[in-house]
Amino acid sequence: MRVTATTEAAASTAADTVVVGLIEGERVVHDAGDGALQALVDGGEARATANHLAVTHAEGKRWILVGLGARERLDDEALRLAAAAAHGRARDLRAKVLAWELPHKLRDHHPARAVVEGTLMAAYAFTACKSGAGDDGSATGVDELIVSDHDDRTAEVARATVVTEAVNHARDLQNAPANVMTPTALGRRAQELAAGHDTLTAEVAGRAGIEALGMGAFAAVAAGTDEEPALIVLRYEPPTARGPVLGLVGKAVTFDAGGISIKPAGSMADMKYDMSGGAAVLEAVGAIAALELPMRVVAVVGATENLLGPGAMKPGDVVTTAAGLTVQVDNTDAEGRLVLADCLHHAIGLGAERLVDAATLTGAIMSTLGRVYSGLWADDEPWAAEVQDAAAAAGELVWRMPLHERYAELIKGSTADLANLSPPRSGASSTAAEFLHRFTGGVPWAHLDICGTAWDSGRAYAPKGGTGAMVRTFVALAERTAAGA
Ligand code: BES
Ligand code: MN
Ligand code: ZN
Repeated sequence: MRVTATTEAAASTAADTVVVGLIEGERVVHDAGDGALQALVDGGEARATANHLAVTHAEGKRWILVGLGARERLDDEALRLAAAAAHGRARDLRAKVLAWELPHKLRDHHPARAVVEGTLMAAYAFTACKSGAGDDGSATGVDELIVSDHDDRTAEVARATVVTEAVNHARDLQNAPANVMTPTALGRRAQELAAGHDTLTAEVAGRAGIEALGMGAFAAVAAGTDEEPALIVLRYEPPTARGPVLGLVGKAVTFDAGGISIKPAGSMADMKYDMSGGAAVLEAVGAIAALELPMRVVAVVGATENLLGPGAMKPGDVVTTAAGLTVQVDNTDAEGRLVLADCLHHAIGLGAERLVDAATLTGAIMSTLGRVYSGLWADDEPWAAEVQDAAAAAGELVWRMPLHERYAELIKGSTADLANLSPPRSGASSTAAEFLHRFTGGVPWAHLDICGTAWDSGRAYAPKGGTGAMVRTFVALAERTAAGA
């Protein structure tokens, strides 16, 4: 979708459809025809109730009136939802060019950004695997979005478009089936991103490279499959850079069958999305490069399948991580921490001065936070605040969870330094975080468990499947690093 900003009134653009938001207790600001919009409100057909929709025609255009609720509660998220609702109706009505007339005087909020995000995210559909056979060709979408405001929103709209396209790219990686989105394919995506920007370089190591780096934990997970694993490193180094080197680390298990500790069939169904952390990292770095942010990133993505081939690691096996710590594999389904242990260590070796990882690490996080919040663990207060502020600015929900020595005690090994499993009901998500913590080498670190939020979030702007969670937060974090240092 083409996205532009204008200071012209939405009604005077070339749009076939204009979206106008209604705020409770407020009159329509720029009416159409002979007061056609206000008349619709007065008649009760159009309402300010959040996300309520009404449609009329005037001045040769179609008008969609969408409820925005009360002004006090009208934040960016409310606008994303309203934009998604309006887009849905516009698409239904075969609108081609949509102009959004932004509500006025929304202090402390970013309506232009929110409308772009809500519209583009809602317009997303995963179609790569559809042949098109049987389509009548009529179901084409909105081609263009014009954001109209009294102030010039060109830069804000351009930025939001780049970031939202990255979110949708991450969703494409998540939604692609595991037989297509292999570790090698993720590596190719990294190369493709790097080819698009002089400031970006990609390196992909396979099984031999992973073993040569002494990544015994990562290699053990990859041993269960013939599919070549990929250690993907993306570096963003623009000529002018400020602040600490941001290390982004992502879990990219392209299919998690659980290994020898095999998952029940029902729990395995969606396990192609176990690469969501890696997808977010790759696409966020692409957006950071496109935005030419003056800071540096080193990104490490560990990609492999977790299967049950003849070479697969077995419960009780002991593996040696690149950091030198040994791990007894009590459950081969707790594979994410094995991959991440080596990737975190690698990121530090490559110069990361701040770390944040994203991983679909534990199903247990959904018992506590559902698909609403991502779990956040951090070992450094200023860095925790940075990540929380970035997430808040991006409009993604994260909730701080505890690290504690008493969780660390629960993952001590009997035959090795560490065990990859803690006892039942011992705080599976927090013991997993403490496991990762052992590999962060004192570098300020934050861990995001995105099991719940990466998939089927149920938001109006997130169709079923991958959500692209944490792309927006990572870009916001990079912006803060560029601005704050
Ligand atoms: N990839 C899973 C976690 C997961 C669960 C992701 C549900 C998405 C939806 C992870 O590798 C895993 O299997 N975790 C185990 C850990 C357990 C063995 C300690 C889990 O959550 O059951
Ligand atoms: Mn698993
Ligand atoms: Zn997994």
